[in-house]
Amino acid sequence: MLLLPLAASFLTLSGFAQAQTSTATATYKPQFTVPASADYGANLIPNILDPEAVDAQTVCPGYTASDVSQNDYGFTALLTLAGEACNVYGNDIETLNLTVAYQNADRLSINISPAVIDASNSSWYVLPDELIPRPTADDDAASTIANNDFDVSWDNEPSFAFTVKRRSTGDVVFSTAGSKLVYEDQFIEFVTAMPENYNVYGLGEHIHNLRLGNNYTATLYAADVGDPIDYNIYGSHPFYLDTRYFSKDNATGNVTLVTDTDGADATAEYESYSHGVFLRNAHGQEVLLRAENITWRTLGGSIDLFFFDGPTQVDVTKQFQFGAVGLPAMQQYFTFGYHQCRWGYANWSMLEELINDFARFEIPLETVWVDIDYMDQYRDWTTDANTFPVPEGQEFMKTLHDKGLHFVPIVDSAIYIPNPDNASDAYATYTRGHEADVFLKNPDGSEYIGSVWPGYTVFPDWHANESVSWWSDEMVRWHGEIPFDGIWIDMSEVSSFCVGSCGSGNLSLNPVHPPFALPGEPGNLVLDYPEGFNLTNATEAAAAASASSSQAAAASSTAASTTQAYLHTTPTPGQRNVNHPPYVINNVQGDLAVHAVSPNATHNDGVQEYDVHNLFGHQILNATYQGLLDVFPGKRPFIIGRSTFAGSGKWAGHWGGDNASKFAYMYFSISQALSFSLFGIPMFGVDTCGFNGNTDEELCSRWMQLSAFFPFYRNHNTLSARAQEPYRWASVAEATKTAMAVRYALLPYLYTLFHAAHTTGSTVMRALAWEFPSEPALAALETQFLLGPSVLVAPVLAPNASSVDAVFPGLSSGTRWFDWYTHAEVAAEPGKNTTLAAPLGHIPVFVRGGSVLPLQAPALTTRDARKSAWDVLIALDNSGAATGSLYLDDGESVSPSETLDVAFAVSGGRLSVSVTDGGFRDGNALGDVLVLGLEGRPAGGVFVQGKEVEDAKVVWDEGAGALRVGGVGEVLGSEAWMGGWVLEWR
Ligand code: GLC
Repeated sequence: MLLLPLAASFLTLSGFAQAQTSTATATYKPQFTVPASADYGANLIPNILDPEAVDAQTVCPGYTASDVSQNDYGFTALLTLAGEACNVYGNDIETLNLTVAYQNADRLSINISPAVIDASNSSWYVLPDELIPRPTADDDAASTIANNDFDVSWDNEPSFAFTVKRRSTGDVVFSTAGSKLVYEDQFIEFVTAMPENYNVYGLGEHIHNLRLGNNYTATLYAADVGDPIDYNIYGSHPFYLDTRYFSKDNATGNVTLVTDTDGADATAEYESYSHGVFLRNAHGQEVLLRAENITWRTLGGSIDLFFFDGPTQVDVTKQFQFGAVGLPAMQQYFTFGYHQCRWGYANWSMLEELINDFARFEIPLETVWVDIDYMDQYRDWTTDANTFPVPEGQEFMKTLHDKGLHFVPIVDSAIYIPNPDNASDAYATYTRGHEADVFLKNPDGSEYIGSVWPGYTVFPDWHANESVSWWSDEMVRWHGEIPFDGIWIDMSEVSSFCVGSCGSGNLSLNPVHPPFALPGEPGNLVLDYPEGFNLTNATEAAAAASASSSQAAAASSTAASTTQAYLHTTPTPGQRNVNHPPYVINNVQGDLAVHAVSPNATHNDGVQEYDVHNLFGHQILNATYQGLLDVFPGKRPFIIGRSTFAGSGKWAGHWGGDNASKFAYMYFSISQALSFSLFGIPMFGVDTCGFNGNTDEELCSRWMQLSAFFPFYRNHNTLSARAQEPYRWASVAEATKTAMAVRYALLPYLYTLFHAAHTTGSTVMRALAWEFPSEPALAALETQFLLGPSVLVAPVLAPNASSVDAVFPGLSSGTRWFDWYTHAEVAAEPGKNTTLAAPLGHIPVFVRGGSVLPLQAPALTTRDARKSAWDVLIALDNSGAATGSLYLDDGESVSPSETLDVAFAVSGGRLSVSVTDGGFRDGNALGDVLVLGLEGRPAGGVFVQGKEVEDAKVVWDEGAGALRVGGVGEVLGSEAWMGGWVLEWR
C-alpha cells in the first residue's frame, strides 16, 4: 500500500502533538501527519447516479424453477439460469436452491442461495449462522403454520417469480412478478411491486424522514461519517415495516387501499395491516424505493428473506425481535438518569468541577462520560498519567460512586501498534493481542495497519479464536485501575483514516497524527452555529460566518482535484473484485475502502472484510457485553455503541452519532429514534444540543427538553466547540430542570416500558401511527411521539417559535388527552392541528386518558429518586376507566432474585391495585393519588381500603377537573406495594 514520504509539509506541531507534551514521558517533537491523500479512494460513480449504468433487468435471463417438492413447512425447488449468463456485476450463479418455509404462525422464510455450497470452489459468501443466527422453524411449527396469514405462490412465466399474499385480505404484500431475479457472486437483485404511495419505515441506518417515501435509495454500508442526511451512516438494519391502510364502504363491505394518507378523513373509519420484511444479509447493499416498486441490490450473500405477518406494527416488531434478531437488553435503572459528556473534558479536576456545577445548579446528573481525552495518547485501556493519573482517578471514582453517580469512558475499536524503533512506546494491550493472534490481517498474512486517533493501528478480528477473551481480559484489567460503570464503543464501522494498510512499513513514524485537523486545530475551527443564531446574536453570527467562509476558502484551495476519470470494473470469470466491485453502491465515502478498513483485509478464518464489513460493530458489542459480564458478574452490561446490525439491541444501546448543533438534527432525532424502536434498539438517544458546530441558548434549551423523553438522555459536544452543559445559560438550566422533573417522575414508567421491551419486544418510543393504527393521517407524522402508550410529546423543533402545532390522535374514537402540567383535558378536534403555546422553556406533554402512571419524586440521582414516595396518576378515559402497570427489581441484576409486578385498574370510581407477581420490596410509602378527567368533585368522599380520607387531604381542582388525594400512605399504613389496595371516590 501507500508508502508515505516524510515530507516537510507533513511535519506539524499540531494540537495533538502539543497535547502529548503534557504527558509524563513525551516532549515536543515534530509529528508526522498522515497526508490527506492517504484517505482518497478511486473515483467512482455510484450506479444509481450513473446514466450509463446497465440495468440488470434488461440484460439478465432470470431463472426457471424445477424439481418443486412440497414438505410439511412449505416447498423447495431448484432454480436454474433461464438463459445465457449476463455476468453484469459479478459471476452469475447457475443453480440456486429455493426454500419456502412457514416457520410458525407469523413468520415466513424465503431463502434463495447457491445450490452448491463448496467453500473451496466458490466465489460467493453466504452469511453463516455463527455470525448472525438464522431464524428456523419453531419446534411446534407444524401445528402453528396453518395460522400464518401469508400464502406464497410462484410462476415461471416469463421467468421465475414469487408472490406473497396476505390470506385474510388477499392483498399482495410482496411480488417479484414482472421482474427478473439476478444472482451473482457480487450482485443480487430482486424487485417487488409496491402499491401507490406505500408506507414503508426502517432500512437503517439513515437520517431521513420516518416514512421513507417512494423516491429514496437506502444504502446500507457501515460508515464513519458525521451524520449526512439521506446517506448511509454507522449501522445496517435491512428490515422494513410496511403499513397499508384501507377504507371500508359500510354499505358494500368493500375495502379500498388508501393511497393518500395525508388526505384521509379524520372522522372516517379505516383499518390497517402491517407486515415486516427482513433480509438477513450483511453485505453492502441498497434498497431503491421507487414509485411502483422496491428494488433490493446486495454486493453478495444470499436472498434470505423473512416476512412477519403482523397484522399491527406492534405485532410485527414483536415478531421481528422475538422471532428473528433477539429482544433488547434490559438496562440498569441508573442508565435512565441524565448523562453528561463532551470531547474536551481534559482532566480529573474538570470532571470534579462538572459534578460540582451540576450540584450547585441543582440539575440532576447521573453519569459522567469521558471521551478520548482521558487516554494515554488515545490508546484503549490506558489513562494519561499526567492529566488522568490513576491514583487521583481512584479517589475521584470513590467520591463519584458515593454520590450515586456513574462513569462511562469511550473505548475505540482500533488498537495502537507501537513504534518498533522506540522501546518506550511499548503498549501491552497490543502485545497481548498480537501474542493471542487477534488482529485482522492483510491478504499476505501480515497485520493490517490502518490509522485512527492514536496513529497507526491494528483492528481486532472477531473471527479469531482468542479475540473475545483478549478483549474481556483487557476490560477486567483496566477496571482494576479505573472502576467504570459502562462502556461507550466508538469508531466501530470499522473506521480507519486511510485506504488500505497504510501503516505497513511506516511504523517508525508512529504515533502519527490523523490525516485531518482535529476540531479546534488550525483549519478546523468550530465556527458553525444553529439556524436562527443570526437573529438572536447578529454580531457574533456575522463574525463567525465570515471566519467560516475564509476557512472554507482556504480548505478548497488545497482540496484534491476530482477531475480524474471514473473507475469502472467488469467481472472476471470465477473471481471477485472485492476492492472495487463492478456494482458501485452509493456509499457516502465513495470507494468502500475510504475511511474504513479495506474490503480485502482478511479474517482469521479466511473471510474477507468485504463480506462482513457491516458486522464489525455488532461483534464488538457482543465482545464488550461478554467482557462486562466478566467485569461485573451477574450485572446487566451497559453499552452504547456506534455501529450496529440487526440484533445488536440484545447487547447494547446506540446513540445517533456525530450530528450537528442544528434544529434540523433535533428534528430528525425523532425519526432516528423511532426507526431504532423498529430495529429492536430502544436504548437510543442523540447528542443533545448537537455535536458538531456550536450550539446556542435556544437550540440547547429546546433539545435538553426534547431528549428528556428519549430513553438514552445524553448531552455530548465536539472538541473546542462552545460549552453546552445545561447550566451554561440560566434559561437552559431552568428548561432542563422542568423537563427533567417530568422525566424523573416518569422513571418507573420508563423502566416498566423497558422491561416490557426486554421481555416481549414491545417498543418504548412510539410513533403515533403505531398506537393509532386506524388513522392514515398519522402515517408520516414525525414531529411528535409517544413514550409508551400513555405519554405524548409535542416538541418545538424550529427556531424562533413560541407555539407548536400538534395533532391529538384517537379523538374521533373517544380518546382523551390531559395536559401534564395543568391536568386539564385538551380541547382539540380530530385530524386538525391544535396550536399549543410553547414559549422557550416549555415542552408540551400530555397523558392519554385510560392510563395509570406510577410516579416518584424527582431527585438529583436515580438512586435518590428511587427512595422517594410513590404517587399514582390516573387519567380517565371516556368511560371513567384506566389501566397501568409497574415493574420493579434491584435495577441491576441480569436475573434479579426478586421482582415485582403491580397492576392498576380503574373503573366506576374505584382504583384497585394488585401485586400480580413477585416479592421485591422497595420500601417506599405512598404519597398522593391524582385523578384527572372527573366531571365534578366526588360528593361522597374518598376512601382507601374502605377508610375515609379526611377532607383536608382531598384537593379538588375545579378548573382542571382533577382530584388530588394526599397522604394515602398514612391511611394505608404500609409500603405502597406490600399487597393490593383499593381507593374509591364516591
Ligand atoms: C467520534 C465519535 C464522537 C467522539 C469523537 C472523539 O467522532 O462519534 O462521539 O466525540 O469520535 O472520540
